[in-house]
Amino acid sequence: MSSSHPSPSSRPSPASGVPLPPTAPSRAAVVARLRAAGCVFAEDEAALLVAAARTPDELAAMVERRAVGHPLEHVLGWAEFGGLRIAVDPGVFVPRRRTEYLLGRAVALGRRAAERTGRRTVAVDLCCGSGAVGAALATALDGVELHACDIEPAAVRCARRNVAAVDGQVHEGDLFAALPGHLRGRIDVLTANVPYVPTEEVGLLPPEARDFEPLVALDGGTDGLDVLRRVTAAAPRWLAPGGHLLFETGERQADRAVEAVRRSGLLAEVATCDERYATVVIGTLPSGPAGAGSR
Ligand SMILES: C[S@@+](CC[C@H](N)C(=O)[O-])C[C@H]1O[C@@H](n2cnc3c(N)ncnc32)[C@H](O)[C@@H]1O
Repeated sequence: MSSSHPSPSSRPSPASGVPLPPTAPSRAAVVARLRAAGCVFAEDEAALLVAAARTPDELAAMVERRAVGHPLEHVLGWAEFGGLRIAVDPGVFVPRRRTEYLLGRAVALGRRAAERTGRRTVAVDLCCGSGAVGAALATALDGVELHACDIEPAAVRCARRNVAAVDGQVHEGDLFAALPGHLRGRIDVLTANVPYVPTEEVGLLPPEARDFEPLVALDGGTDGLDVLRRVTAAAPRWLAPGGHLLFETGERQADRAVEAVRRSGLLAEVATCDERYATVVIGTLPSGPAGAGSR
């Protein structure tokens, strides 16, 4: 790393010899430090860090953490997602802007479900991480019953802060085993942004993900679909008739993901967004006798 780190050292007061409070590094110095560390959006990031820091020491510490590679969102303590500021603690998966595409599809289906059923939409965010998807979904759909779950205690603690704001509940545990039994057969919208990176490719991820996000949030097994297959196999028992499962997948995995959805008895659709580079698979439990039979 560059030796030009603008560390705010205490300055001796010429008059008294008593150290003055540390001076904050200037915005230009922050930009220079970030740029030297390889940050592509050094100007924007500097503005965010300067605005977030409450003291010169805090700013210096934040700049240093960012410069050694911590994700910006972990340094700031929040990420922007779905128009919300989502708290993101260190060690918790950072919600990606790409996932806003999945969110948009989930919101549309949640609205339709409310129109169709005439009751409050029941939404579950499985593998919730920070709880970003569930919190944004509940915000967009006025009056939703929201449950979220994750297996990682740090994620659960973080999600509780975000999901409390929309009156949702967060459960800790392994996929559906974490959910209260009364949700069985009642879920209208089930979002499951499961880990889907093939084990061999985890090492190819950018260092920000590889070094600062937990492996359990990234590693989807040999072909990246291990967790997903467990979700698709159980989803029909938890969805309401006409309910939807939505998950993200890699472009190259989409065919196998669709196969897993169809094998479970759900109807499958693939939705893509070139702008976001996002592939979302939507599985729907038929609302007629076929759906009832598969449960
Ligand atoms: C790719 S991250 C997605 C987080 C969040 N949904 C988002 O989009 O920001 C996957 C999450 O799944 C959680 N997870 C992995 N395996 C799980 C399991 N068996 N049961 C519940 N959560 C799991 C991880 O802890 C991680 O938070």
